[in-house]
Amino acid sequence: MLVSFGFDTGHSHRSRFDLKIAMGFSTTAIHAGNEPDSATGAVSVPIYQTSTFAQDAVGVHKGYEYARTQNPTRSALEKNIAALEGAKFGYAFASGMAAIDAVLKLVQAGDHVVLGDNTYGGTYRLFDKVLSRYEVVFDLVDTTDLSALEQAMRPNTKLVFVETPTNPVMSVTDLKGVADIAHAHGAKAVCDNTFMSPYFQRPIEHGIDIVVHSTTKYLNGHSDSVGGFVALNDETSAEWIKFVQNSIGAILSPFDSFLVLRGTKTLAVRMEAHDRNGRAVAAFLEEHPAVEKVYYPGLASHPQHELAKRQQSGFGGMVAFDTGSFDNAKKVLESVKLCTLGESLGGVESLISHPASMTHAAVPPEKRQKLGITDGLVRVSVGIEDIEDIIEDLDNALR
Ligand SMILES: Cc1ncc(COP(=O)(O)O)c(C=O)c1O
Repeated sequence: MLVSFGFDTGHSHRSRFDLKIAMGFSTTAIHAGNEPDSATGAVSVPIYQTSTFAQDAVGVHKGYEYARTQNPTRSALEKNIAALEGAKFGYAFASGMAAIDAVLKLVQAGDHVVLGDNTYGGTYRLFDKVLSRYEVVFDLVDTTDLSALEQAMRPNTKLVFVETPTNPVMSVTDLKGVADIAHAHGAKAVCDNTFMSPYFQRPIEHGIDIVVHSTTKYLNGHSDSVGGFVALNDETSAEWIKFVQNSIGAILSPFDSFLVLRGTKTLAVRMEAHDRNGRAVAAFLEEHPAVEKVYYPGLASHPQHELAKRQQSGFGGMVAFDTGSFDNAKKVLESVKLCTLGESLGGVESLISHPASMTHAAVPPEKRQKLGITDGLVRVSVGIEDIEDIIEDLDNALR
């Protein structure tokens, strides 16, 4: 069965995605992993709040022994998100950072890793302050420039880690280009797909090997859970990620697994609404006299607008804009009434933040400046409230 994959964004490539999934996206989101409970028939996967499972005899059990290793609620979510990403295997973690850390456990002392130069600040911090202690060398590369990536590859490069669109200046990296370069050098390509969610971008279809998520954001979508996810197809790497998940134990709890599983059921309708509102906010800000620059891949003025149209099927709800100075940014951030000042993104409510002092405080100031993360930059996670109210709130704050 093939059903529509969402509202028409005007992109001719939408049908390509339709052919790649056995069922429509929403059908998969609602049904994958969501079989009625075998014990009771419960339609919603129950929260299996248990630490251990009774065994029938020594060495004989129902597939569940101890809840760090397996938990039915988590297993349901793992099937669900893996299906949405078009992956055979999926693992849910206690946070996006725990998921990224598990992927980094694929490398060993002496290996080299390439990291996109504009990722979430916490990802940079993990590489810079933690990974570097284990004799793993990493280089920061502007992965929007594939020739720069090619030059950065070394014989011992094992992973290329990119985020696209990037946080917060929304640069877009060519996923197929990255995968091709990584594979030509015997490395694996990893994409943090948090900003787009599998609804708007499925990196594995572009050749990427491993997808990571902060489920805290769009996948859960209601700002009430912290979690992470790793999706992949390669069985050997998957076995290792599963081993790491159990050995280190940074697992997603049954309750959080339940919340995210509930969240993904409405992912398609939420993403459509985020995208609609995101486009409207970006267009409004681009015309506003108090705004110097707007970063949104859906704008024709965005340097990688054409690439975004090719590899994404929508642009989403993340918009950043430069107000020109810290004072201006502060006024906007402290004057909004509907948008909530806070870190995070991807929830139904609009959130507004100051990347330089909040999400990207871990990035050194000169590097922030180079990336466009100026002191005047404001980031909005455009929610799904009525668009007139969001725009009025931003307009009042800018005035
Ligand atoms: C793109 C991206 N990746 C990863 C993370 C880390 O996720 P978490 O906060 O769930 O650990 C974040 C958090 O903001 C993020 O924005």
